[in-house]
Amino acid sequence: MKLFLDTANLDEIREGLRWGVLKGVTTNPSLIGKAEQGFLPLVKEICTIVDGDVSIETSGDEADSLVRQGHDIMQIADNAVVKIALTTEGLSATRRLSDEGIKVNVTLCFSPAQAILAAEAGAYIISPFVGRLDDVATDGLRLLSDICEIYAAQGYATQVLAASLRHPLHVVEAARMGSDIATMPFKVFESLVKHPLTDAGFKKFTDDWEKAKPHLGELPPSMQEA
Ligand code: G3P
Repeated sequence: MKLFLDTANLDEIREGLRWGVLKGVTTNPSLIGKAEQGFLPLVKEICTIVDGDVSIETSGDEADSLVRQGHDIMQIADNAVVKIALTTEGLSATRRLSDEGIKVNVTLCFSPAQAILAAEAGAYIISPFVGRLDDVATDGLRLLSDICEIYAAQGYATQVLAASLRHPLHVVEAARMGSDIATMPFKVFESLVKHPLTDAGFKKFTDDWEKAKPHLGELPPSMQEA
């Protein structure tokens, strides 16, 4: 499962890339607004530093306009993916853009029926929103599991991107269900690495090593410095 950051914050993206595990980025109008930077320079920079898909969202709900926006987004960078909301106009635009070979991420998916429509429209990615369903007392992970099962049964090529993930268990379950991609805020990304037993174990090994070092004779230079 590829790990994406759901952010338009360049510092967060650079940090994720430094860890060597970040494969892509998703943005949305709320995240772009929060970044408080010029749209085109910001999205161009994200597409430049990320070696993978970067979803950039369209606005409005009129198929012709969505198609035009899709063409403009594709001019930004080769790794740009056009993000379109799951409406009838959005499906129509998805079909037209997909027929041209343009990659579309169909977003705001809240039901298996919607996910079937997106795949039939030729979507490159479907984005079910797990956390927002949990917020309204509906099982978001169940939706993800249903979509993974249906897509496997039908042999759809559309990738399942688990979105609106709020904590590490969402990510682990998304992987277990066979999601192709999981996108998450930086704080969830960061929480994946943390474990108190790792911290305690690391401290003990470090302390014991420092105590033992004077009695170990010659060490490789890099180990002497560390
Ligand atoms: O960007 C799409 C999705 O991941 C948004 O998540 O946390 O705003 O529900 P959230």
